[in-house]
Amino acid sequence: MIKLGILGIGRIGKIHLENICTRIPGATLIAAMNPSEEGRKFAEKFNVPLVTSNAAEVIQHPEIDAVLICTPTNAHADYVVQLAKAGKAIFCEKPLDLSLEKVLSTLEVIKAVGVPLMLAFNQRMDPNFQEIKQCIVEGKIGKLHTIHIISRDPAPPPIAYIESSGGLFMDMTIHDFDMANYLVADEVEEVYAKGVNLIDPEIGKAGDIDTGYVLLTFKNQVTVLIESSRKAVYGYDQRLEVFGTKGMMKAENPLKTTNQFIDHTGVHLSQNLNFFIDRYAASYLLEVTAFIEALQQKKPMPIAGNDGLKAMLLAIAANKSMHEKRVVKMSELLQ
Ligand SMILES: NC(=O)c1ccc[n+]([C@@H]2O[C@H](COP(=O)([O-])OP(=O)(O)OC[C@H]3O[C@@H](n4cnc5c(N)ncnc54)[C@H](O)[C@@H]3O)[C@@H](O)[C@H]2O)c1
Repeated sequence: MIKLGILGIGRIGKIHLENICTRIPGATLIAAMNPSEEGRKFAEKFNVPLVTSNAAEVIQHPEIDAVLICTPTNAHADYVVQLAKAGKAIFCEKPLDLSLEKVLSTLEVIKAVGVPLMLAFNQRMDPNFQEIKQCIVEGKIGKLHTIHIISRDPAPPPIAYIESSGGLFMDMTIHDFDMANYLVADEVEEVYAKGVNLIDPEIGKAGDIDTGYVLLTFKNQVTVLIESSRKAVYGYDQRLEVFGTKGMMKAENPLKTTNQFIDHTGVHLSQNLNFFIDRYAASYLLEVTAFIEALQQKKPMPIAGNDGLKAMLLAIAANKSMHEKRVVKMSELLQ
């Protein structure tokens, strides 16, 4: 039985907390920390033995093997370092930090101390995307040629969130950068990006874009086109298509129901799911389960800190390409 703690019980922390307490038999949550009462009340409903507002009580808890960091991004890296020094295994929500320097120094600490660190790129665990990865690995798609990823949110977050998010590419497209790295399993050579402000002028005033296009060219010549939008009026839109010499495979949006309504205007299907909490419910459970299994079986983490760094470097290259209106070579970064 792996003994867990959790730091931060907001939107994502609540999902992980509930999954651990009700759906993951190999783990038990013995401590939960949140500064505000609302999060702590949620933990109390699940009878977590220690519920506290003091992070040190979790970090230094002698019985805890591993801790999930579900706080706002600006607290991730400091907690990772403190937990690593306390000898705990770490599951950290994405991204590790918005500063490249801080990510590099944090990963140095992880390397020096040698504790397991998993980064929560949950979309890798989505059963639809998993099947596509499996078909690529088994050669069913043949030699990969192109991938197209579409990621559209139902509505933009509040402007205050936009201002501290690191921008569309760092905040939102980062999941798709990781997905591209995961599916192609090669190094990106070049990045070309374009971004515009079409949805809300306030987003533009906050210095961000709300609609983005990124073209990644990998060293093996596979190209990945990623479209990102902060607003789709029809709900959360997450689709993916891979094309190769033996065929094409695509993941469509799961809908709220499988019903069809047919009338004189045509065949009507149900609506898209609302947002990530519904769309990725299975992947949130599967990612923490994979973390626990890796700890139990002493296997490498399925998604490592270096995967977070690679996705972040693509976001940095995309921002550079957009601002400088040119193709950016990955070799220009980290020089
Ligand atoms: N993988 C995904 O699909 C996904 C989805 C949403 C959010 N996230 C990531 O998860 C993180 C949290 O996002 P959220 O939407 O749950 O945010 P949130 O604001 O809903 O929750 C954050 C919680 O952390 C608490 N908190 C604030 N400062 C803290 C500190 N120093 N120590 C401990 N707790 C603290 C807050 O009181 C709040 O309860 C972010 O880094 C975000 O990028 C990932």
